Amino acid sequence: MNAVVIYGSCYGSTQAYAEYIAQELSCPAVSAKEVTRADVEGRELIVFGGGAYAGSIAGAKKAAKLEKYFGQARLLCFTCGLADPAKAKTQDEARALLNKAFPRHAGMPVFCLRGNMDYARLSAGHRAMMAMLMQLLRRKKEPTEEDRQLMQTYGEKVEFLDLPSAQPLIAAVKR
Ligand SMILES: Cc1cc2nc3c(=O)[nH]c(=O)nc-3n(C[C@H](O)[C@H](O)[C@H](O)COP(=O)(O)O)c2cc1C
Repeated sequence: MNAVVIYGSCYGSTQAYAEYIAQELSCPAVSAKEVTRADVEGRELIVFGGGAYAGSIAGAKKAAKLEKYFGQARLLCFTCGLADPAKAKTQDEARALLNKAFPRHAGMPVFCLRGNMDYARLSAGHRAMMAMLMQLLRRKKEPTEEDRQLMQTYGEKVEFLDLPSAQPLIAAVKR
């Protein structure tokens, strides 16, 4: 299939999924930092995946600038985050952000996958964002199970990356 996978990844989890999907589809995986019009024009299928970062999706802005060159390509998207993909909230947020980023393809299939986070590797900016989030969570009167998990793992290594969990996306492409 004439496809391409475009990804936005800060620490490698989304990139790992993108490369896994690209390998399964025998197509290239291109970072949103480097993607150009030539990478997307004339494709039958474009997969976009981005890391979830507090209400934004890494790489989405850059990839969305090329949406006008997607032509007749089908677009499938995935996000990569720590939030539980089984929760409706996780899926609804991802859909809303991606529909906004790619308005010509709004309603595209969206898959939520889980990635890793290693606090020791975070940039100063991301570390500060997580510290602020922790302050908010600690003040919460009724933290959710997910809030509790995030507080318990604060400062540590969280490993949710599971490449085969991208298989439903691959099956949807082949359908
Ligand atoms: C500052 C910051 C904000 C984050 N916000 C979210 C979020 O809103 N939802 C989520 O599921 N994960 C969130 N994460 C976790 C990342 O999405 C997760 O670590 C993911 O694996 C990152 O993918 P990447 O390594 O490809 O960048 C956040 C992480 C950081 C450091």
